[in-house]
Amino acid sequence: PIIYAITPTYYRLVQKAELTRLSQVLRLVENFHWIIVEDSDTKTDLVTGLLNESHLLYTHLAAKTPPFEKLKDKDPRWKKHRGVEQRNTGLKWLRENLELNKDRGIVYFLDDDNTYSVKLFEEMRKIKKVGVWPVGLVGGFNAEAPEIDPKTGKVIGYKTGWRSDRPFAIDMAGFGINLDLILSKHDAQFSYKMAKGFQESEFLSYFITKDELEPLADNCTKVYVWHTRTETPSVKGYIPGLEV
Ligand code: UGA
Ligand code: MN
Repeated sequence: PIIYAITPTYYRLVQKAELTRLSQVLRLVENFHWIIVEDSDTKTDLVTGLLNESHLLYTHLAAKTPPFEKLKDKDPRWKKHRGVEQRNTGLKWLRENLELNKDRGIVYFLDDDNTYSVKLFEEMRKIKKVGVWPVGLVGGFNAEAPEIDPKTGKVIGYKTGWRSDRPFAIDMAGFGINLDLILSKHDAQFSYKMAKGFQESEFLSYFITKDELEPLADNCTKVYVWHTRTETPSVKGYIPGLEV
């Protein structure tokens, strides 16, 4: 199967650094198709140039977050949903360009600031419906992880420091989903109406129940992805003509 990874990205000083780091890791992944969706009215030169040089198979799209839904500079980050418009645009592209029972793949929501091990992508290829694994550095714990019943090997709950009562207490980086499911349920998408922090839960609820989840990464005992967040640099001066 091909891994289709949908990445929302937006302009800020660290964008080029994030995308450089990401694109160079992704070169180590075989059978990979990067769907990169800019939070912008049009595709920017920065991202276009980076993708041109990336040696990756990619699709470059743009979809701007409506102003009302956009996080302001001083807002705490949990105040608005992030990546909604862009992920939906990526899903739409898949549904318009790929065909059920012909194209085979796994869909993954790959944020531009996290840290990914190449091992994660090998795990994903085992997915039948929805695969899950731990995510490091999120949820107020060292990692957020599905809880596995040792007798049945099924997911029975979630180990996390934040709202373990969520229907699926899993970060966006903590699951992959078979393309067949995406292509057969056209109404499944993200929405601004969802409660904050419930995008993942609501989305997964379209497709599956908890006991059908497939635990990966050694029965959810290994961390292959980290919810890293890059500090916003404090910039006091500006050198013209130098793109960072
Ligand atoms: C957490 C989750 O890891 C996200 O997947 C989820 O979208 C988010 O919470 C949420 O609840 O909305 P967090 O690290 O706080 O993520 O979010 P960001 O990394 O800031 O944003 C997620 C993605 O959206 C990134 O790829 C980022 O580049 C993109 N984004 C963010 C935009 O496209 N536009 C923005 O204005 C902000
Ligand atoms: Mn993030």
